[in-house]
Amino acid sequence: MEKSQSTKPRVLSVVNQKGGVGKTTTTVNLATALAAVDKKVLIIDFDPQGNASTGLGISQNKREITSYELVLGEASVGKAIQKTAVPNLHIIPATIDLSGAEIEMVTMAKREFRLKEALSENPYNYDYILIDCPPSLGLLTINALVAADAVLIPLQCEFYALEGLSHLVKTVELVKANLNRDLSIHGIVLTMYDRRNKFTEQIENDVREYFGEKVYNSVIPRNIRMSEAPSHGKPALIYDMNCAGSKAYIKLASELLKRERALSKELEAA
Ligand SMILES: Nc1ncnc2c1ncn2[C@@H]1O[C@H](COP(=O)(O)OP(=O)(O)O)[C@@H](O)[C@H]1O
Ligand SMILES: [Mg+2]
Repeated sequence: MEKSQSTKPRVLSVVNQKGGVGKTTTTVNLATALAAVDKKVLIIDFDPQGNASTGLGISQNKREITSYELVLGEASVGKAIQKTAVPNLHIIPATIDLSGAEIEMVTMAKREFRLKEALSENPYNYDYILIDCPPSLGLLTINALVAADAVLIPLQCEFYALEGLSHLVKTVELVKANLNRDLSIHGIVLTMYDRRNKFTEQIENDVREYFGEKVYNSVIPRNIRMSEAPSHGKPALIYDMNCAGSKAYIKLASELLKRERALSKELEAA
């Protein structure tokens, strides 16, 4: 029997080569919000810092099979996944070993396609796979871009944000032209949004003018509860569902799902 369409997950890579812009927070909370509306979700922690793993309560000594083994072809998705405290949400954790993979892969055949190949099986029928990328545009991030259907870019409204963004968009275009023609930008989400910062409004206006509808309407406010949650090993959405940041991620998730429905209609019509 032919495999049904639904067995192919949507793969979204959360990318920005700058550190500290909200990639991990966005990955973890968006994934939690999607899981809460009954989507089956897998997070791949693809940053050697392993922050998504920590934020979901997977302690270092429980990270035996990780995204390192996955990307080197030493373990399958089914072997590497771990359950989290959130129903419907699994994770493949990361440790510092992953930084070695970046070097080990250089001499390997099809080095840009290692993650994509590892994700060709979908043993748990995931609806979404979210990849939390490291803060660089090296081979790990290229693997995440090749494996992805679309990228989600968290952007902090600060002075240098736009410079980094144009470099990132160029990289996405290069990957699209050479390695993954189906890649698209799902959207740009403004994170740690703070109107009191004098650059916020100016950067927001520039980004919205240039990227138009690609910028999500929902913005994620700067909110202390968001930064407290990871130390409790919980997504902010579980730690404090009613805080402003959690509410913003719920809105973002519904906006994302709305875009997904529009996209699948476009595909059907094509
Ligand atoms: N909306 C927010 N409000 C307050 N703090 C936040 C928010 N989003 C992220 N943070 C904090 O900012 C830091 C960087 O966020 P993180 O998601 O780890 O960024 P990245 O993965 O891009 O390095 C973390 O300490 C995180 O808890
Ligand atoms: Mg991170």
